[in-house]
Amino acid sequence: MSQYILSIDQGTTSTRAILFDTQGNIVDSAQQEFTQFFPADGWVEHDAEEIWDSTLTVCREVMKKSDTSAGSIAAIGITNQRETAIVWDRATGKPIHRAIVWQDRRTAATCLQLKKENSHAEQLVQSISGLLVDPYFSATKVAWILDEVDGARQRAEQGELAFGTVDSFLLWRLTGGKSHKTDATNASRTNLFNIHLQDWDDRLLDLFKVPRAMLPEVEDSAADFGETLPELLGSAIPIAGIAGDQQAALIGQAGFKPGMIKSTYGTGCFMILNTGTRALTSEHRLLSTVAYRLKGEVTYGLEGSIFIAGAAIQWLRDGIELIENAKDTEAMAQEVGVDHGVYMVPAFTGLGAPYWDPEARGALFGLTRDTGIKAIVAAGLQSVAYQTKDLIVAMQADGAEQTTTLRVDGGMAANNWVVQFLSDILDVEVDRPEVIETTALGAAYLAGLQVGIYNSLEEIAGLWHCQRHFTPQMSASQRAKLYDGWINAVQRVRTMD
Ligand code: G3P
Repeated sequence: MSQYILSIDQGTTSTRAILFDTQGNIVDSAQQEFTQFFPADGWVEHDAEEIWDSTLTVCREVMKKSDTSAGSIAAIGITNQRETAIVWDRATGKPIHRAIVWQDRRTAATCLQLKKENSHAEQLVQSISGLLVDPYFSATKVAWILDEVDGARQRAEQGELAFGTVDSFLLWRLTGGKSHKTDATNASRTNLFNIHLQDWDDRLLDLFKVPRAMLPEVEDSAADFGETLPELLGSAIPIAGIAGDQQAALIGQAGFKPGMIKSTYGTGCFMILNTGTRALTSEHRLLSTVAYRLKGEVTYGLEGSIFIAGAAIQWLRDGIELIENAKDTEAMAQEVGVDHGVYMVPAFTGLGAPYWDPEARGALFGLTRDTGIKAIVAAGLQSVAYQTKDLIVAMQADGAEQTTTLRVDGGMAANNWVVQFLSDILDVEVDRPEVIETTALGAAYLAGLQVGIYNSLEEIAGLWHCQRHFTPQMSASQRAKLYDGWINAVQRVRTMD
């Protein structure tokens, strides 16, 4: 009987289930979008019940479509939007508040206050967790829920409430509450995890006021996380791999050697450089994070996180309705070219790395009487490449070697114009793999490793194939001129140094 791996990719705007064969080919997939709640300026919430429903729906749908029974699925891998915080009641499994999403900025003032009250807070947080004090990470979101929901803090201290990132909540539900676990990559995004000792850290738990009793157990990224309740998908299936979506993409891109680098263009853009067994301390406000942990051995990554990438195009389509279809942007940008003088800074939810300015907001610059829709669309696409360049510049300033090849993936990486511009503005070679769904693929590989479908990372690396290679074609002077214009535009939206 054929063997498959089912990957659950629970992202920021949709949940997908992708069925892979053992060669990493997509057999079939199903996808469902869910509601985004914006209750106040800078707030973003999801309904965890809706996330759960969408997860079950897409798993069942992909199995039905492909006529696959639970018995031929060797294992499930889960990958997820990271940092998003869910607190639920251990007795009922019900969330006590909507999930607070990674993009949510409601705790910006708390973070500022923390840094003001304790001048060592940022240094402490960075040295232990590899992260910064910023509303992006889970800790202040969890504390906010505990403070705002009646009686929650006391119940959490008594062990009645559980906290988890989305992987952990789905695992809880899939196993009928038997497993309260997460993996080291997700734990490393909470602001509560010691990435050097691989354990929750009491100094951080004190600082952010999060009770230890509510935290999940942290496992390797390939581990025996539990089994699905038989009634959910037909029969019990082992859940054998978990990783945050950006780390999963690094695995799906086979970025296993130190110095390898990938950039994923989903809602946001996240670039991870594999730094091997060394956790670098960034001096340029990048994040040190767990890239993956296998058999207890940690591989670290240096990450640059940009909050808005594909979401800028979504805004052009749904927000101001300049385009009908994201696919049209490639031809529109091609017509107007790269040098139209317009810059879009999509700081809709503040600026992420390397600026970390939660109060900054988006802007369009360089508009003239004859600026047309195409230039604005091109500027939206280019903003993603310029932000990627900001990250590479910061990585190099942190001592990373000159990047020679970047591997890209995610929805926007299908746009040839964007990838060519990326190669031009970065002045690096860019590779796009055959399977662009690297996030889901990475989770499938992890699960496959655990159940013995793959024996090593080398074997997985052998399954990676380049679909198209992009080479820089832009002159150095044009590159410098365009990027100077971007730096100038970003400076104009920043609210702090
Ligand atoms: O850190 C947030 C990230 O995990 C979200 O990824 O793909 O949903 O934009 P994505």
